[in-house]
Amino acid sequence: MAIEKSKVVEVLKGVIFFAKGDNIVDLGMLDDLEISGKKISFRLVFPRLDDPAVNIVSNAATKALKEEFGSDTEVSITPITEKEKGRGPLAGVKHIIAVASGKGGVGKSTVAANLAVALSKTGAKVGLVDADIYGPSVPIMFGVVDEAPGMTVKEGKQMILPLEKYGIRLLSIGFFVDTDKPLIWRGPMATSALNQLLSDADWGVLDFLVIDLPPGTGDIQLTLAQSYSITGAVVVTTPQKVAFADVRRAATMFRQDKLTIPLLGLIENMAYFTPTDMPEKQYYIFGKGHGQAFADALDIPLLGQIPIVEQITKSGDTGSPIALDDDSPVAKAFMEVASKIKAMVR
Ligand SMILES: Nc1ncnc2c1ncn2[C@@H]1O[C@H](COP(=O)(O)OP(=O)(O)O)[C@@H](O)[C@H]1O
Ligand SMILES: [Mg+2]
Repeated sequence: MAIEKSKVVEVLKGVIFFAKGDNIVDLGMLDDLEISGKKISFRLVFPRLDDPAVNIVSNAATKALKEEFGSDTEVSITPITEKEKGRGPLAGVKHIIAVASGKGGVGKSTVAANLAVALSKTGAKVGLVDADIYGPSVPIMFGVVDEAPGMTVKEGKQMILPLEKYGIRLLSIGFFVDTDKPLIWRGPMATSALNQLLSDADWGVLDFLVIDLPPGTGDIQLTLAQSYSITGAVVVTTPQKVAFADVRRAATMFRQDKLTIPLLGLIENMAYFTPTDMPEKQYYIFGKGHGQAFADALDIPLLGQIPIVEQITKSGDTGSPIALDDDSPVAKAFMEVASKIKAMVR
């Protein structure tokens, strides 16, 4: 009795890819299904291949098919990435860089925004996703609070069109989630909102997509790692000793087996104070060398030291990130970080 394609598809509909919470057929992961006699072969399109889910899902599919069509059935599954398939909304994005921190208030958003600007100043095409459900701030920092992203239709599908400012494509979770709502309601929405920002938006062709992650070590980091191919994470800290516990926690999370997001390095924000009228002065008010010591302890490079300058907060509030101002010592610090990152991911 010949094995029918429709029957195979039906069986595969019982196989769930947990990271996306649906079956592999409806998720569009099944590709090139071919049947010849007792041999069933197909490809499965995964967001990334260095994820344990590849084996788990492939084994589950093999088991289900053998149960249905007999143990002598030969099942041949080739896992491929969305990129290889030339598919996925992020197929045109070369590198995804996640900006993370152990806790809020260390300047993660400031770093993400200015890193995006600095990368763009090197000539790269850059996008910025504000995924910080607890305090979306990209719209304020880029002065687009009153703007709304557009919509476009691509291959019959409604897609979100990122805003564009200073040559950088932008989307914020703040455009889609009511930030007046209590946190316990926002939390569960965060993961699906992030998926929308990444999967349902037309990012086009980009060299870098920078993601401003929420602080901490939660679900959103896990979703990101399992569903997208992240080039690397940058961890932001301040020089205070107490901050190290948080940095270590964040770093440890990125090193878990199931996450496997490479840590590109550490950025020490508020490393020293530089008065506006004395840009050559550096006052290490929290002590010197902490950032380097943190980086050494975690065995990752220190990518940069960003000074405390009054202008950062002002520029954040007026909607033009300080890295746009070529003369500022902060811009120089970010250009250095950008060129280090570019050299690392090539
Ligand atoms: N290097 C810096 N110098 C001066 N102020 C800074 C610096 N980095 C961040 N800030 C200010 O600190 C506050 C918190 O920064 P933000 O980037 O929003 O932190 P996070 O995203 O980690 O919560 C903001 O008001 C920001 O303008
Ligand atoms: Mg923030």
